[in-house]
Amino acid sequence: MEGLALTSGFWHGRRVLVTGHTGFKGAWLSLWLQQLGADLAGFSLAPPSSPNLFELAGVAAGMTSVHGDVRDSAALARCIAAHRPEIVIHMAAQALVRASFADPVETFSTNVMGTVTVLDAVRRAPGVRAVVNVTTDKCYQNNEWAWGYRESDRLGGFDPYSNSKACSELATDSFRNSFFPAERHAEHGVAVATARAGNVIGGGDWAADRLVPDIMRAWTGGAEVVIRNPHAVRPWQHVLEPLSGYLSLAERLVVDGPAFAESFNFGPAEDDARPVGAVVETMQRAWGSGAAWRLDDQPQPHEATWLRLDCAKARQRLGWRPRWTLDAGLSATVAWYRGLAAGCTARELTLQQIADFSAQGAAA
Ligand SMILES: NC(=O)c1ccc[n+]([C@@H]2O[C@H](COP(=O)([O-])OP(=O)(O)OC[C@H]3O[C@@H](n4cnc5c(N)ncnc54)[C@H](O)[C@@H]3O)[C@@H](O)[C@H]2O)c1
Repeated sequence: MEGLALTSGFWHGRRVLVTGHTGFKGAWLSLWLQQLGADLAGFSLAPPSSPNLFELAGVAAGMTSVHGDVRDSAALARCIAAHRPEIVIHMAAQALVRASFADPVETFSTNVMGTVTVLDAVRRAPGVRAVVNVTTDKCYQNNEWAWGYRESDRLGGFDPYSNSKACSELATDSFRNSFFPAERHAEHGVAVATARAGNVIGGGDWAADRLVPDIMRAWTGGAEVVIRNPHAVRPWQHVLEPLSGYLSLAERLVVDGPAFAESFNFGPAEDDARPVGAVVETMQRAWGSGAAWRLDDQPQPHEATWLRLDCAKARQRLGWRPRWTLDAGLSATVAWYRGLAAGCTARELTLQQIADFSAQGAAA
């Protein structure tokens, strides 16, 4: 993308709705869009953790923040009618694998019917031109392949979270075919895409049962962190990487319409799909003394061992590439939590890292 979505002025004054703006990725994206000058509204439930980046960084101050459930069609319609967004980025979800084992009904309900409700609201609202539905790398049927999944690979999902996101993909496809077909774009004016990104890391995540938040909680409290699956390989990337992909994709949907109304993977360079254990060791080196870990010997719910993404399509069609290596992303993450502990504000840390990221061209 070579800064396309960041420097062209495309986002300045653009009316955007983000669902899930109170979450980890939502708070980063909302601050970034504010920095780009977007006219931003958010619709979601309360922040999912305490503490959370949304409140710590004062994200609500630069946007219209609406509290509501994405399954509540009347509330969502009111929000869309009031804000009249041109672009919708749908991120609201029950986003945790472990929580999906504990409450599969809530997970499927939020992730599938939430998506359907958002797409139906778009169908009824004039003026929306682009929708990016954020799903996940876990939406593919995992065959434990050592190579990366492509957008054309079969959808699946073992656990309720992963499967609900595959269902969200299928529901999006149905809406695209039924209500937003390419051949009638002049009539309906809407282009809908899905974005499948890998495991994100970054400052300001306090979710339960996620690797980086678990590590940071333990080490900032002077404790040892317990690691579950050190050999599991995941496509790790800094949170700003997929967000830059979503922005790039949304821009193309507005400018070029149905030519981009498809699914896109956003993941790290091949070398940066690394085992959990390697990530922990890199963070250990960045943190310095007092960073200890041990293996969890308890039985664990099912998790895939290998998961990689093939991102050739995003590279070729969008010109999108990762900007930071995983090591750079991990250093930025440790620096963020260190900075907070040293008295910097979450807002300045986040805005500074967005500025650093934006200033850096895409890695080769
Ligand atoms: N964090 C990751 O590693 C990762 C990786 C791939 C994809 N994703 C996807 O990115 C999106 C954001 O993830 P995150 O890590 O920021 O999650 P998060 O749990 O931090 O935030 C989830 C957001 O959704 C909102 N929400 C949940 N249920 C809702 C409902 N019924 N109605 C309205 N809002 C609701 C929450 O209030 C919050 O704003 C999700 O769709 C997730 O599946 C995340």
